[in-house]
Amino acid sequence: MTQRNVHIETWGCQMNVADSERMLALLAQKNFRAVSSPSDADLIILNTCNIREKARHKVLTRLGELRVFKDNNPSVLLALSGCVAQTESKSLRNQLPFLDLIFGPDQIEDLPQILEKVMEADDPSLSQFAPQGPLVQTKFSESREYSIPMDAAEPWLGGDKFEATRFVNIIKGCDNFCTFCVVPYTRGREKSRAMAEVVQETHFLAEKGVKEIVLLGQNVNSYGLDTCERDLEPLEHTPFVELLYKVSKTQGVERLRFMTSNPHDLPSQLPQAFVDIPALCDQFHLPVQAGSNAILKSMHRRYTRESYLEKIAAIRAVRPEMAFSSDIIVGFPGETDEDFEQTMSLVSDVKFAFIYAFTYSPRPLTPAAKFKNQVPEHIKVKRLQALLDMQKLETERQNKEEIGKLRDVMLFYRNRKEPENWYGRTFQGRLVKVLNIEGAAGITLPVRITEANATALVGVVEV
Ligand code: 5AD
Ligand code: SF4
Repeated sequence: MTQRNVHIETWGCQMNVADSERMLALLAQKNFRAVSSPSDADLIILNTCNIREKARHKVLTRLGELRVFKDNNPSVLLALSGCVAQTESKSLRNQLPFLDLIFGPDQIEDLPQILEKVMEADDPSLSQFAPQGPLVQTKFSESREYSIPMDAAEPWLGGDKFEATRFVNIIKGCDNFCTFCVVPYTRGREKSRAMAEVVQETHFLAEKGVKEIVLLGQNVNSYGLDTCERDLEPLEHTPFVELLYKVSKTQGVERLRFMTSNPHDLPSQLPQAFVDIPALCDQFHLPVQAGSNAILKSMHRRYTRESYLEKIAAIRAVRPEMAFSSDIIVGFPGETDEDFEQTMSLVSDVKFAFIYAFTYSPRPLTPAAKFKNQVPEHIKVKRLQALLDMQKLETERQNKEEIGKLRDVMLFYRNRKEPENWYGRTFQGRLVKVLNIEGAAGITLPVRITEANATALVGVVEV
């Protein structure tokens, strides 16, 4: 089989990162080698994000740049995948006739076969497609199963740069239909992988030396609720919690994280899991989105400020060092100054380790895009700045509190410019630059923290 090169550019969330890695794993079976430069590639895939207009705009600009490689060499195949591809395939097919392929998140497992079709169609004598148009494959799978089978390809391990931490997909899609969010339209309905398949993957990864597993999904807490009726064995816990117990038993897995959680779906047994499972890290990304009950209702979040704070308190009661983080949207339609103050006060009360904050961006297909009383852009920007300024002080304060503490730091990668220094993370997920060591990915060392700012900590190994 001829050796070919593939270059994948990934935008957006961890889900897209995991999808790109899966594509690389599947394509490796077909003799495609991953290359870091598009100029070396026979196949270029742009894996897109549609979460906010800015993200969408950036990927389409990038597509314009990548097009040059195809213009220079028409045999290069150019493909668009991910969330922009899924929602806009019809218009993009006409606007971007130079593309060879547009495919959605549900086509990833079939990518090798789809590519064969594209390559056949590239031969004009065999073409069954419009000569200038891309092949479009964006139909959501009708199957209720969600499988990432090991017999199709083994999980991707990072190619040349082995990393000791790996994402494992457990659920895809989202059924929550928050009124701002395009994800239910880009990723479809919730579908969970079979527990045995997830556990098999974590065992495989652990055998390869992976030390940290991050269970991944748009809404991990709903894991298994769609497949419960298919399960033959009765479960002791809510399926997500059951999965945590099962995965935590994998020999060699020292740390376990998960994301992303919707507070509405948080299982009541989760605090107990944090008591029982020492590998579950002191890090919890729990997007609150807003601090005002009126806005939360209008967002269709189905929890209140008060119930969110109760959930935080229940977890802090069992894990006092838990580093919470959150996503916040400012300037959602109808957000008044008072509503925004509620967000400010909630963020201030919770004392998040860090937040991701965004101005509201109307998305196609979503109800909130049509809500009256959209907030003017300049007010959104001002609110965002106030929120970020406040959180930066808090993040800095928490990081500075780390100075002098001895933390277990798991090393992930070497600093490229300063090869004597490594980067790692504490059990709370804080990034640490560890000075002057002969490191290796995946080892955990006791590190005395010596410096800190709002972005990272610095420390030295203490023996
Ligand atoms: N506008 C701004 N931010 C959004 N997010 C999702 N949809 C939008 C939108 N329309 C944010 C949410 C979510 C994160 C991944 O992106 O905070 O948790
Ligand atoms: Fe972006 Fe959401 Fe798609 Fe992830 S799932 S790439 S955040 S739109």
